[in-house]
This record gives sequence, C-alpha cells and structure tokens, in this order.
Amino acid sequence: MKIKKIGVIGAGQMGTGIAQTAIQFGYQVCLRDANEELTRKSSAKIEKGLARLVEKGKLTEDQKKGQMALLQSCPDLHCVAQSDIVIEAITENPKLKMELFRELDKLAPKETILASNTSSISITLLGSATSRPEQVVGIHFFNPVPVMKLVEIVRSLRTSDATFQAAMGLAESMGKTPVPVKDSPAFVVNRILLPMINEAIYVLQEGIADAKAIDTAMKLGCNLPMGPLELADFVGLDTTLAVLEVLYQDMGNDKYHPAPLLHKYVEAGWLGRKSGRGFFDYSAQK
Ligand code: 3HC
Repeated sequence: MKIKKIGVIGAGQMGTGIAQTAIQFGYQVCLRDANEELTRKSSAKIEKGLARLVEKGKLTEDQKKGQMALLQSCPDLHCVAQSDIVIEAITENPKLKMELFRELDKLAPKETILASNTSSISITLLGSATSRPEQVVGIHFFNPVPVMKLVEIVRSLRTSDATFQAAMGLAESMGKTPVPVKDSPAFVVNRILLPMINEAIYVLQEGIADAKAIDTAMKLGCNLPMGPLELADFVGLDTTLAVLEVLYQDMGNDKYHPAPLLHKYVEAGWLGRKSGRGFFDYSAQK
C-alpha cells in the first residue's frame, strides 16, 4: 500500500520527533494529543528544529515552509484516524494503549494500519484490542528521532506480511534502518539497554560511585555518547521504570527487578530532563 498520510498520537518527545521526521520526508502528518497545549508546543518545537536546519544551511526557508505546511494538528481522534497509518506514541501504559487501539479500530478506515511506538508492550496484546490484528505492528523509533537511525519493526503473532512490509518500507523512506524483531518484552534494544541502565542505578544506590563518576566511567570506558544515568534522564525515568516493569513481569526473572531508587525518583516527580531533575539537574536548561 502507498502511505501518504500519517496520523501521530501523542505529542511528547517521541511523537514530536516522529512527526518532524515524517514531514521532512514528505509525508502529510496529523498530530494529536489529548492535551492541546502539548500539541501546540510540539508544533513549535518542530518549527524550531527545522529553523535550526535552515541556520545550518541544511534546509532552505522555502523547504522549511513546505515541510511545516504538511503538519496539521488534529482536534479529535476521528480526524487523526483518517490516515493511511496511525502511529501512537502515548504514555507507556498497556491499559491506555489498549483503549486507544480499541477506539482507533472503530474510527479508522478498514485499510488503515495501526502502529505503536511502544518501548516494551506486547504488539500481539495491542492487536487483540482491534478487529484488525493483521494490520497492527510495532514501529519503534529511538530518541532523538530525527537523529537516531534505528527503527525496530515488531511483528506480532498475527501481523500480516503486507503490514510488516509496509512498516519496513515506511521506516526506510524516512531515512531509517529498520530491523525486524519478534514480539517479545522490550524487543531487542531495550531488552539489552535497560538492564544496563538499571544496574547503573543499583551501583548509585549502593554508593559505589556518584552519578557523575558512574557516567564518566561508562562514557570513557565503553565509548558511549551518554552515560547510562544521563540516558535514563533523557528517555524519562517514568518510561525507564515502565519498560523495566514490563521486562520484570513478562520475563518472570529477578534480574530485571527495577532498582528501588528508580521507584523513589519517579515517586518524587524527578523524571529526568523533562521535569528539570533526574539523576542530574536540568533546571538551568528549562
Ligand atoms: N532533535 C534533533 N536533532 C538533534 C537533537 C534533537 N533532540 N539532539 C541533537 N540533535 C542533532 C544536532 O543538531 C546535531 O546535528 P548536526 O551534526 O547536523 O549538527 C547532532 O544531533 C549532534 O548533536 P550535538 O552535537 O548537539 O550533541 P551530541 O554530539 O552530544 O549528540 C545525541 C546528541 C545525538 C543525543 C547523543 O548524545 C546521543 O547519541 N545520545 C544517546 C542517544 C540514545 O542512545 N538514544 C536511544 C535512547 S533509548 C530509546 O530511545 C528507546 C526508548 O524506547 C526508550
């Protein structure tokens, strides 16, 4: 199928990044968030991101205008569902995602593909909330979406070949490298990455080193662009915890047990960069 119009639900950092990348590659995008203020902020962020590219000489002002014209804010779910594919990037909560898929299934034309950018939740489960599980697929982008090359394409037990191929083709057409992955808790990257982040939090909790020392050690010792604690702050500590909870519950293995200190930070509202404080202080950047 030919995808021209993409519905994006959720105007947080992932939804914003997906919408920006999609318009940069010529797709029409309908962006929707239950919080209209967030949708407005998201559009402004996308415009700022494109303006930065104009400043760097990577985009002309006319190209930027053309790309921004492809971005539309959708007032309701019915509007966003009238797309060739809908990619949801709402909060990492299985109940909310199931409800959303149930609603979208009622509102979207029968050909529309329903995709999730979930970091960890079962695509087979999300598909079961719809009458079209063959047209449900995981399209998992990485943060920051405009920069990160990888997209995991997650195939549920019931995803059809046509849907899987359409998702692979879409990711490629957005300049990404898609990797096919079976439906399994946290897929590939987060299955491997999150235990490392969790271990770093345990190391912090046990007082083996402070946050700065842990990150410096991992950055210089493993040649990482960000240390594990800075990366957790970047992803969001609520999302980090949600992914670890899925791994812990669905794999039934103690090695995924989220560090108690991570729970405490989330309870304190220290969610990382987006809240101004996580393992590091970002209040000056707000
Ligand atoms: N949006 C768009 N572009 C951005 C950006 C953003 N948020 N942040 C940085 N960039 C661009 C810059 O404009 C710059 O572009 P240029 O080379 O064309 O000038 C380029 O990226 C490099 O940026 P900087 O020089 O400012 O900064 P760094 O060199 O420190 O790179 C980084 C920033 C790319 C974010 C780097 O620190 C990095 O790769 N960090 C690790 C990111 C990572 O691991 N992400 C995966 C997280 S896990 C995940 O997302 C899964 C989820 O399910 C939890």
